Amino acid sequence: MSGPRPSPGGDNKGPQQITILLVDDIPETRENIKKLLAFEADMKVVGGAGNGREGVEMAKDLKPDIIIMDINMPDMDGLQATSLITKSVPQAAVIIMSVQDETDYMRRAMGAGARDFIAKPINIDDLTNTIRTVYRNHEAIRKQYQMAQFTTPDQAMKQAAKIEKTLGERAGRVIAVYSAQGGAGVTTIATSIATLLMNKGVRVMVADADLQFGDVAAFLDIKPQATIMELLPDADDLDPEHFDNIISTHGSGLKVLAAPLRPEMAEVIIKGRPSVYGQIIEKVRRNYDYIVVDTSHALDDVAIGVFDIADIIVLVTTCGLTAVKNTGLVVDLFKQLGYGPDKVMLVTNKVYSERDRKNATLPVDKINGYLKMPVKVEIPIVDERTLLAATLRGVPITIAERDRSKPPVKQYADLSKLLVEALADEDDDLAALVEVKPEKKPGGLFRR
Ligand SMILES: Nc1ncnc2c1ncn2[C@@H]1O[C@H](COP(=O)(O)OP(=O)(O)O)[C@@H](O)[C@H]1O
Ligand SMILES: [Mg+2]
Repeated sequence: MSGPRPSPGGDNKGPQQITILLVDDIPETRENIKKLLAFEADMKVVGGAGNGREGVEMAKDLKPDIIIMDINMPDMDGLQATSLITKSVPQAAVIIMSVQDETDYMRRAMGAGARDFIAKPINIDDLTNTIRTVYRNHEAIRKQYQMAQFTTPDQAMKQAAKIEKTLGERAGRVIAVYSAQGGAGVTTIATSIATLLMNKGVRVMVADADLQFGDVAAFLDIKPQATIMELLPDADDLDPEHFDNIISTHGSGLKVLAAPLRPEMAEVIIKGRPSVYGQIIEKVRRNYDYIVVDTSHALDDVAIGVFDIADIIVLVTTCGLTAVKNTGLVVDLFKQLGYGPDKVMLVTNKVYSERDRKNATLPVDKINGYLKMPVKVEIPIVDERTLLAATLRGVPITIAERDRSKPPVKQYADLSKLLVEALADEDDDLAALVEVKPEKKPGGLFRR
């Protein structure tokens, strides 16, 4: 390196470039990633390390924004390195690289402080999307530490508290998916939109609040390592960090809070302390950008507890007369509970085409009229086999079917988009709040 002292992030980086350190024991892998990233104007690879120990040293020297870390390496593996970096260079965000069958290892890496992961072999879109998302999500922490170098400890503390508060207010959005009737497609919709929301590296959990017959884990072919039952004893002083490590992770990265394994176990919660479910969600919502809650059709206190803290309730109805009538009762109840029109998003599922309808179900305009509420998305009825094939693979249809123009994936994508828009903050610009205004000229780092 030239010059007297390298500035953090490397010398000749552009004004807004994301600086990246690659840690992988295979030189070709580092070379390949570097080549891929060379085409991204907003990114710059500032170094490469061949094992965890070297990675930690280079992270301390270079203070990159992002570290792409392999898991299996000689000398010091990615897990240990991530843990050390998280402590000694907190402004750097670690992204773990893993092959499919390393999910358990990967989960531990996330526990060690990694911010996200990408699957090997590397796909360039995944890689760049993940880097940008992690960079953005890590902004508050990064700025807090950069600033600490130039302000008094007192100022830094105040600023950190302010950031903390904003992050608190940005607590994850809770989306409850509910239908008055079983079998309407709630679980299918909840898991589908959860995976779509997660698409850009955003942290998403799906929580199964159908405590008696919840089947999210089965749907996703997960053998839950811990369910809601294991959390109950510590519900009152639940540690959100700890929580993220004990719940299950789907191969896609989706976090899953599974329902009890047997229906009678649910009684403990339903009869004893139904509000605890909503309280647990409330406590951990800061861990995630979105929490999608799959609710049972029983309108019990567990469900109401979830609805109360939800930002939006996706109300699913099929188009039969009874289903729509029952949905009407729910719409009334929601009004009584004081949920405004913005809180409820009506969706019809298993909608027949006009040609196939044959008066067996109500047309959507009738449903609109009857419920006095617009249907936001109409999900068509599809061949059950299409959905089943995905379920057999243990993934939602949104993962099995990559073509987003095909029903019902298109409609799930439309719904996710509506949700993201509805839940976006008007002043979601954390960057503006944590804008660093150092008193002394810091010599280069914040040149604009
Ligand atoms: N759009 C759809 N077209 C056809 N079948 C569907 C559709 N959505 C869901 N299903 C099927 O309906 C059944 C019930 O779905 P599920 O999501 O388990 O409902 P719930 O959670 O509301 O009980 C499943 O077999 C599922 O594959
Ligand atoms: Mg269900």
